[in-house]
This record gives sequence, C-alpha cells and structure tokens, in this order.
Amino acid sequence: MIAPTVPGRPVVEVVDLSAEYRTRRGVVRALDRVSLAVAPGELLAIVGESGSGKSTLSQALGRMLPRACHLVSGSVTVLGRDVAALGASEIRTLRRESLGFIPQDPIGSLDPTMRIGRQLVLALKPLGKACDPATLIALMESVKIVDPERALGLFPHEISGGMAQRVSIAMAMAREPEILIADEPTGSLDAQVREEILELIVRLTRASGATLIWVSHDLGAVRRWCERVVVMYRGRIVEDGPTDQVLIDPEHEYTRTLLAALPTTSSIPHIASALADDGKEPV
Ligand SMILES: Nc1ncnc2c1ncn2[C@@H]1O[C@H](COP(=O)(O)OP(=O)(O)OP(=O)(O)O)[C@@H](O)[C@H]1O
Ligand SMILES: [Mg+2]
Repeated sequence: MIAPTVPGRPVVEVVDLSAEYRTRRGVVRALDRVSLAVAPGELLAIVGESGSGKSTLSQALGRMLPRACHLVSGSVTVLGRDVAALGASEIRTLRRESLGFIPQDPIGSLDPTMRIGRQLVLALKPLGKACDPATLIALMESVKIVDPERALGLFPHEISGGMAQRVSIAMAMAREPEILIADEPTGSLDAQVREEILELIVRLTRASGATLIWVSHDLGAVRRWCERVVVMYRGRIVEDGPTDQVLIDPEHEYTRTLLAALPTTSSIPHIASALADDGKEPV
C-alpha cells in the first residue's frame, strides 16, 4: 500500500516495513509491508483486531521492539531521522526529547518504591526541566489531579489507575514531546475515567501542537477524538483515511468485517461536534 500524501513534512514516515517474531515455536509475520506517513499535529488512531500488529508498529517507531522481533525490510523515519541508522545514544536522545509514551498499564509503569513527586523529579531533572515544588504542583494540576500536594507524596499503590494514568501523562507531556504514542492508554480503566483520560490526552496534545498516534480498540472514542484512522489486519494497513469516511463508509469489505467485530459507541458524537459543544477551542 502506498502511503497517502499528507500536507507538510511528515513527522513519522514508515515505508514498506515488515517485521517478524522469531520464537522457538516458529516465525510470526507481525508487520507486512506497512507504509504510513503522519503529518505534524495530526491525531491518528490505529485500530484493528487483536494480533493485527498495532503494538509492533508503535514500538517500531521508537525502535523499541522486543528482542524476538526482527525487521525484515523497510524503514522508519522519525523527525527526518532514519531510526535504524541511529547510534545507541542518538536513539535514546530521540526517545527522550521527541517521543512521549503513554503506557497501557500506568501503575505498573511507575516505580513502586518511590513517591510520585520523587519520580517526577527524576524524570524531569536530567532533561534540564524545572522540578521545584510549585512546578510539580502546576504539572499535576495540568492533568486535573485534585489535591496535587497530597498526590505528590503518595506511592503508586496508594493511587487509582486513573490517577496513575494522569501522572504518566504529566510525565510524558512535561518533556514536551513532538510525538506522543499511546498504546491502549485506557485499557485498564473504567468507562467514565476512560473518557476523561482520552479527553485530557487529546486536549493536551492539541494545546502543545504535538502529533498523537493512538492505538485503540474503542471505535466510539476514535470517532470522537481522531481525525484520521488506520485499520490494521494481519500485519497490514488495509485502510487509511479520514475517520468518518473509514468508520461510516469503509472502502474494503474486510474493514467492514473488522469494524463489525470491534466494540463501538455509536452514540458518541464526532470530534468536530464534540468540541463545538461549548464553542471553545480545546485548552
Ligand atoms: N513477544 C512476542 N513473541 C512472539 N510473537 C509475538 C510477540 N508479540 C506479538 N507477537 C505476535 O505478533 C503479531 C502482532 O502482535 P501485536 O502485539 O503487534 O498485535 P496488536 O494489534 O497490538 O494486538 P492487541 O490488540 O492484542 O494488543 C501477533 O500475531 C502476535 O501474536
Ligand atoms: Mg497491542
């Protein structure tokens, strides 16, 4: 499949990428000639059935594939840099300075032995970012944590999954990444918290001008928040286009089958009308 043309220089360009897992039980082709170009500031969702290659693709963007996964062909270019050609310190710098990852399991991604405030300091200090108490409190407020002073003094096991996800979003956004990658960031949360967290991610992404690449099973939320959707099926991109077009009038028969099999919340309005509710631009 040819990557669609996008206005402006893409921040992410994947060309003909194929990858396979080699295990004792055999070889699994996880990505099959995937091509994708993502423009600056785009909000892109990647959907597809379980095992279709969504996580493998999002991991490949930061050259963070598991050991068993090998690239067979193709290239990944992030912010103009061929990630395969970068040295160890260069790829670390790219990840640290330009990519933000929002984890699927927010509590598991935090250090259980350390209070939240200390973890934020350790994440921000090496980047030369301010990490005084007032900055940390402002950061917690930016992700709508009530009583931020108290939260900074808590350990991960003392906070809810929703609060842990807010903390991990704060950690990711504080680094001001140009590209935010979220692989099922709300998978472990209940429905209401899930909506709040997604709204937070989208609003912060828009306010910062970052690009969002969001892996999701939730088509209702994808329709509400993302302008473009990519559908994966068996390691391939089978559809790529404006969300409304793909979800309401899919081009391919297999996309229709896939969409029918995935959960959706059709009552959720599209992003344009959702944001028009209060007549304000997102903050
Ligand atoms: N560590 C691994 N070892 C072997 N095979 C793997 C491994 N991780 C993933 N795979 C295989 O690679 C393919 C793509 O998996 P991937 O995790 O990228 O799918 P996914 O779309 O993210 O699925 P899900 O929606 O369940 O998270 C699948 O066939 C999967 O079984
Ligand atoms: Mg996955």
